[in-house]
Amino acid sequence: MLSVVWLLASLILSSSLVVAQDGAISGAQTSPEAAGYNCDASNCKLPTCNCASPNPPGGLKPSEVPQFIVFTADDAVQSYTLDVVNQLLAHRKNPNGCPPKMTYYTSLSYTNYTLVTDWYVAGNEIADHTMTHVGDPPEEEINGNLVTLNALAGIPFSSIKGFRAPFLNYTAGMLERLYKAGFEYDSSASASIPVTDPNTDAYWPYTLDYGMANDCLAVTGTCKGQLKLPGFWEIPMYAFFDKRGNAGSHLMDPWLDTANGNSQVNDAETLEYMKDTFTAHYSGNRQPIGLYTHPIHLALNYPGVSVSNQTGLMINTFLDWAQQQQNVWIVSSAQLLAWTKNPVPVSQLDSFEPLKCSTPAIDSNTKICNGMPKNEEGLLSHCAFPDFPFYTCYGCPVTQPTVQNPNPPQQVPKGRQARFRLPANCSTPFWDPIKGQCLCSSNQCMFSDESRPIGPNGANLTGGGTSGGFNGAPKDPTKYIPFNAAQAHEAALWLALVLCAGALVVVL
Ligand SMILES: *[C@@H]1O[C@H](CO)[C@@H](O)[C@H](O)[C@H]1NC(C)=O
Ligand SMILES: *[C@@H]1O[C@H](CO)[C@@H](O)[C@H](O)[C@H]1NC(C)=O
Ligand SMILES: *[C@@H]1O[C@H](CO)[C@@H](O)[C@H](O)[C@H]1NC(C)=O
Ligand SMILES: *[C@@H]1O[C@H](CO)[C@@H](O)[C@H](O)[C@H]1NC(C)=O
Ligand SMILES: *[C@@H]1O[C@H](CO)[C@@H](O)[C@H](O)[C@H]1NC(C)=O
Ligand SMILES: [Zn+2]
Repeated sequence: MLSVVWLLASLILSSSLVVAQDGAISGAQTSPEAAGYNCDASNCKLPTCNCASPNPPGGLKPSEVPQFIVFTADDAVQSYTLDVVNQLLAHRKNPNGCPPKMTYYTSLSYTNYTLVTDWYVAGNEIADHTMTHVGDPPEEEINGNLVTLNALAGIPFSSIKGFRAPFLNYTAGMLERLYKAGFEYDSSASASIPVTDPNTDAYWPYTLDYGMANDCLAVTGTCKGQLKLPGFWEIPMYAFFDKRGNAGSHLMDPWLDTANGNSQVNDAETLEYMKDTFTAHYSGNRQPIGLYTHPIHLALNYPGVSVSNQTGLMINTFLDWAQQQQNVWIVSSAQLLAWTKNPVPVSQLDSFEPLKCSTPAIDSNTKICNGMPKNEEGLLSHCAFPDFPFYTCYGCPVTQPTVQNPNPPQQVPKGRQARFRLPANCSTPFWDPIKGQCLCSSNQCMFSDESRPIGPNGANLTGGGTSGGFNGAPKDPTKYIPFNAAQAHEAALWLALVLCAGALVVVL
């Protein structure tokens, strides 16, 4: 049974991440002395330069600043992981009526390429997390990811602007490699000191014109102006803090951590400190906060995942609570960066392009393999590799992509024409890889804007879109919006696997 093999294989990947404590920090990762940070604000001006600062960009007052919640997911893109993200976001709207977008830091082992296409075409950001999930990645791991995502998922090179290091393991050399490859930003650094501390390192995104100011106690050669990468951005990852303050920091997947030094995970305590940290940001300088997720750990139907089915409800309860407050937006890393470069006050956000939403206007009856599930039905190629069978619009490669060969030749079925890969002058939803034709000759045509005008200052700018249930009327956590429809018939197989897979986790 092929699927058993790859389920177990992907399990090995995800459980080894848990063991490695992907994304954990403890205590302050920087200090003013270690940072030795000195930025000349009179020479460093938006949009191309920004000094590391806890104060909002552009000299805005906190009351004029939106409270951003950056939502990210890391690792392989699969139906399970997208289902989890949808469970948290699909029912929500931002204040302008648009569905929130998020960033998927994608690594390629066990990725189902067609879902990357779909997720991108649905408006989300696809970013780079290396091909095979290695720390301090070499150039081929970083750049090979771009090549494969472009070839097999039809993601335009120009749209992959961001990077996050696996295990958040980065070095000065890695940042230099990103810079050389033309990335716009990295988001691997941690902001590890509460915003209420005078030495907080919760800086708004900043450029490395004057070096790094985060992680100076942990990563050598980046601070005291040693690593100057003009115009290259760092988007810090903002930690939550429990009752222990600085000593109780939680960065990625805080819901998997125990709170307040206790020995067991307690969703109610997690919710409490997440709210407290949010409020500290919201009532202070409104530095963003972030939900940095490994969605696989929240997948209720995934073998070996032992998360409580209340945890997803708790996160939804947190987002419901946050979204009921004024000027709260759930955004991708790229959207946060777009606003930081051009910080318009909340009163003008209704005309701010990067926060808008639009849908490619393609008739749902058109048969085209373009990342829109209705259109592409029956048109996907199934690439039956034994460790992980995946689907793609762009033709199966003869071998799995590797770091040495990120774009192997296409395996063309007898009597068929090879599929055409996305050219640089067409955008993904309009490209027909079977006919090799672009349905639209400009990126602007055929998109219909779906954002609604939000009122001038003083209007109700909350996002709404609540679903709650945790600590309230219990809701069925299985009733969420699956991506591409749930594969109900496979559920029994997964359940059957839970037992043997559980044993595997213990061994690893
Ligand atoms: C891969 O994508 C196909 C097509 O959308 C879907 O049917 C299948 O369930 C997906 N599998 C996984 C594990 O993501
Ligand atoms: C970071 O990754 C490199 C390369 O895989 C490894 O040698 C190093 O030990 C890692 N560092 C940490 C702190 O995990
Ligand atoms: C895109 O570029 C190709 C050549 O690379 C050209 O043949 C085609 O006409 C261009 N399409 C559009 C829509 O500009
Ligand atoms: C904003 O709208 C929401 C949902 O429509 C409503 O519950 C809330 O009371 C409103 N807030 C203000 C300040 O008008
Ligand atoms: C949640 O998990 C518990 C214990 O595993 C189980 O008894 C309960 O049926 C689950 N609830 C739902 C709605 O799935
Ligand atoms: Zn990762």
